[in-house]
Amino acid sequence: MARHFGGELVFVRKGYLENNVVTQPMAYDIVSRNEYPAYREQMDYVRYRTIELLAEEIKRNHVGGDIAEAGVDYGDCSWVINGSFPDRTFYLYDTFAGFDERDVETEKNNGFTSEAFFESANYFKRSSFRTADDQVAYVRQRLPYPEKAVFRKGYFPETAVSETEKRFAFVSLDMDLYAPILSGIDFFYPRLNRGGYIMIHDYNHSEFKGIKRAIEECEEKFGVIPKFPLPDQGGTIVLTK
Ligand SMILES: C[S@@+](CC[C@H](N)C(=O)[O-])C[C@H]1O[C@@H](n2cnc3c(N)ncnc32)[C@H](O)[C@@H]1O
Repeated sequence: MARHFGGELVFVRKGYLENNVVTQPMAYDIVSRNEYPAYREQMDYVRYRTIELLAEEIKRNHVGGDIAEAGVDYGDCSWVINGSFPDRTFYLYDTFAGFDERDVETEKNNGFTSEAFFESANYFKRSSFRTADDQVAYVRQRLPYPEKAVFRKGYFPETAVSETEKRFAFVSLDMDLYAPILSGIDFFYPRLNRGGYIMIHDYNHSEFKGIKRAIEECEEKFGVIPKFPLPDQGGTIVLTK
C-alpha cells in the first residue's frame, strides 16, 4: 500500500496501520473516525486522547489523588476527564461567567493578549446561559459520572480554599490568561503527587503569551519542572513530577 506523507511516497506494509492500536481502543478513538454524533471542530483528538493515555499511566503506576479542571466553560474537556477517571473526585473550577476583569487588566497591562482578542471574542457576554448556575447544570448533565463532580463556581484561586489539604493526580488548566494560570500552577504543582500530570492549554498558542511567562515564574519558585509539549490544537504543555 502506498501513501503520501509530506510529499514523499511512503510504502506501508499491508495491515500495519490497521493493527497499530495504541495500548487499547479507548472511548475517544471514535472521534478520530468522526463517529461521535456531537463531533465539533474544537474537539481535539490529540488533546483528549492524551488525557485518556495519561489516565492509563496514572492508574498503572498507582498514583493516588483527586482530579481537577480549572477552566471548564461548556465542559467539552470535562466529560473526557470525568470519563477517564470514573472513581476519582473531580473538582471543576470556573466563574461560569467568562474572564474576570482583574485578570483581563493584568493581561492588557502586560501586553500578553491583544485588545482585539477581547473585543472580537466578546468573552464577557458570550455565554448562552441565563445564569452561571444554568451553565453548571448543563455541564453536570453532560458528565458520565456526575456523582464524582464537585463544582466550584467563582474566581479561581479564591474558589480553591477548601482543597488546600488535597492531593492531585491529574489537573487540566485552561483559563487562557496569565494570572489564573500562574495561580493554578502555584496551587496545584505543590499538591501534585509524584507520577501525576498537569496539562496546561495554550502554552504554544500565538495569542496567549502569558502562559509561558507564568510557567517561567513558577520554575523560578519550584525549580525546573519536567514537561513536554503536545502537537494539539491549543499547543498544550504537560507538566509532571
Ligand atoms: C477556554 S475556556 C475553557 C475551555 C474548556 N477547558 C474546554 O476545553 O472546553 C476558559 C474558561 O476559563 C474560565 N476562567 C478564566 N479565568 C478564570 C478565573 N480566574 N477563575 C475562574 N474561571 C476562569 C472562563 O470562564 C472560561 O470558561
